[in-house]
Amino acid sequence: MLDIFKTNKDKKKREELVLDKDNMPRHIAIIMDGNGRWAKQRKLPRTMGHKAGVETIRRVIKETHILGIKYLTLYAFSTENWKRPKDEVSALMRLLVEYLRSELQELNKNGVVIKILGDINMLPKDAQNEVKEAIELTKNNTGVVLNIAFNYGGRDEIIRAVKLVSNDVKSGKLNIEDIDEKALEKYLYTNGTPDPDLIIRPSGEQRISNFLLWQCAYSEFWYSNVCWPDFKEEHLHEAIYDYQHRDRRYGGV
Ligand code: IPE
Ligand code: IPE
Ligand code: MG
Repeated sequence: MLDIFKTNKDKKKREELVLDKDNMPRHIAIIMDGNGRWAKQRKLPRTMGHKAGVETIRRVIKETHILGIKYLTLYAFSTENWKRPKDEVSALMRLLVEYLRSELQELNKNGVVIKILGDINMLPKDAQNEVKEAIELTKNNTGVVLNIAFNYGGRDEIIRAVKLVSNDVKSGKLNIEDIDEKALEKYLYTNGTPDPDLIIRPSGEQRISNFLLWQCAYSEFWYSNVCWPDFKEEHLHEAIYDYQHRDRRYGGV
């Protein structure tokens, strides 16, 4: 049994969690992991796990909206995930296209702003087109900002930023003396999005896997053994509840 809530007593506790509306994380980032293991436990192909994971995405976006959390970042495909079998990679590309095709109107209606973190030029053409349409259609919305990290890697993001900075220095647009944290952040995919307050990783793994390396400097981490397709609203509440009982010191006292 993978669920961390093993007893009825724990179940009761999580239903009673009272969240402090004045201390909500502004930005939650989630490493959506465990789809493959979820499928394996059910003797299903891994791709069925990815499909099941899409349902969790719907629930989590809705709950984010209800809770009034402004920024949600979902890690959907890493720069290392290209190493997977070709069939699985294609299935993940297809899922992105299907997801945007089926959800875009609804997301737009609910004011969601869709952004992509990662280099989309490496994606199949149809996926690139869906992504561009989603970004364009939702760019003036004012609701939840949904960052989909797709073909995203933290190191890749930093290398890209270094190249962009170098170009601007070379062309005289930027002085070396003016390079500080604020200036560098403008060159990251996350430009305009505050650092994640809370990073959630389901599936039992406790590592960062190249996610938001720059941005996670002072993020709070929350792990759960639940696989992503089984991740429910109550797990999100539990993570936020824990977050609200931590003492964020940022190096101070
Ligand atoms: C997360 O689930 C989805 C992606 C990385 C695309 P996994 O596919 O990594 O699932 P596990 O870790 O093998 O269970
Ligand atoms: C991280 O999960 C990437 C995504 C969830 C998109 P992985 O399953 O690829 O990470 P590792 O290989 O377990 O570190
Ligand atoms: Mg995994």
